Amino acid sequence: MSAPELDTLRSELLEAIARAPDLAKLEDLRVGALGKKGSVSALMLKLSELPPEARKDYGQAVNALKASVGEALEAKRAELAKEATAEKLASERADVTLPVREGPLAQGRIHPVSQVTDEITEIFADMGFSIAEGPDIETDFNNFTALNIPPEHPARQDHDTFYFEPGPDGTRAVLRTHTSPVQVRTMLAEKPPLRIIAPGRVYRCDSDQTHTPMFHQVEGLVIDEETHLGHLKWVLEEFCKAFFEVKQVKMRFRASHFPFTEPSMEVDIGYAKVGDGIRIGEGEEWLEILGCGMVHPNVLANVGLDPARYQGFAFGLGIDRLAMLKYGMPDLRAFFAGDLGWLKHYGFPPLAIPTLAAGLSS
Ligand code: PHE
Repeated sequence: MSAPELDTLRSELLEAIARAPDLAKLEDLRVGALGKKGSVSALMLKLSELPPEARKDYGQAVNALKASVGEALEAKRAELAKEATAEKLASERADVTLPVREGPLAQGRIHPVSQVTDEITEIFADMGFSIAEGPDIETDFNNFTALNIPPEHPARQDHDTFYFEPGPDGTRAVLRTHTSPVQVRTMLAEKPPLRIIAPGRVYRCDSDQTHTPMFHQVEGLVIDEETHLGHLKWVLEEFCKAFFEVKQVKMRFRASHFPFTEPSMEVDIGYAKVGDGIRIGEGEEWLEILGCGMVHPNVLANVGLDPARYQGFAFGLGIDRLAMLKYGMPDLRAFFAGDLGWLKHYGFPPLAIPTLAAGLSS
């Protein structure tokens, strides 16, 4: 190939490179010119066909062509890459004023029982109660005997207890039938004044639309030297107003019987049926939500407290009941069916943490 022909090839290649619209086309051009079978590489192969005296000049000319095509390719590549980056930045620009997209965290749901437990805890914490805990598997002593329910006492039958096999000492552990054994644990471990609540699971061999073999209670216990029924009523009324987020509640204290309190009461709250829902604090319907009373002197004596010096009150609230009532969930069994559709509907967003300041259920 003569020198003018080389020049023509050069200008053709340089022009094509200058016009390359994108990196892929540029790469095609590179392969077409400098690749193994490329037009420039082919010129190099011709070297051996030339007479020896012509080879030097020809070789230099082809090398110069190769170098200038290489430089042009590199310059164009840098230019196209820069353009591509600029384009990407422009098209992927984030609009920070758009609302946040829901991540997996926001899709999870808190179970209504957990949410209502947090609401209850928040209210009692605000009144100065602390949280106490006990195990689900209890001793017969804590669940019954210390609570003034001795062996052979008829109240033992009321509870449909799940018993374990007797241990070496002949006593049988139980799945606790109420949270009241946490009263015993607390009084044995700490000195009055005491002000605790104890939320947790309890078990009774029972199952229908409003009973499940496992359900949830919150125990409350206050022990001091001058505690009376007025305190109990006030605490429960304040609790109900805060929990149902109403200014007034109708409460009915009915005489009842528990072996571990004297006097004992069951508390109903008044509500009205409005369409499908219910309204708390008005109307003529009543629903039982808790049992309570003044701690029985025998219980105090059983845990080594002097009944002549200390008294107090206790209460036991059904958490699941409160949840059904507040959030209008008709079937208790659905609570424990593990149905994701139900949980999506009735569950709470994970960051909706109940606080008194921000509103418990807002
Ligand atoms: N433990 C009782 C129950 O499960 C409720 C209760 C608790 C009653 C504390 C009085 C005092 O039915």
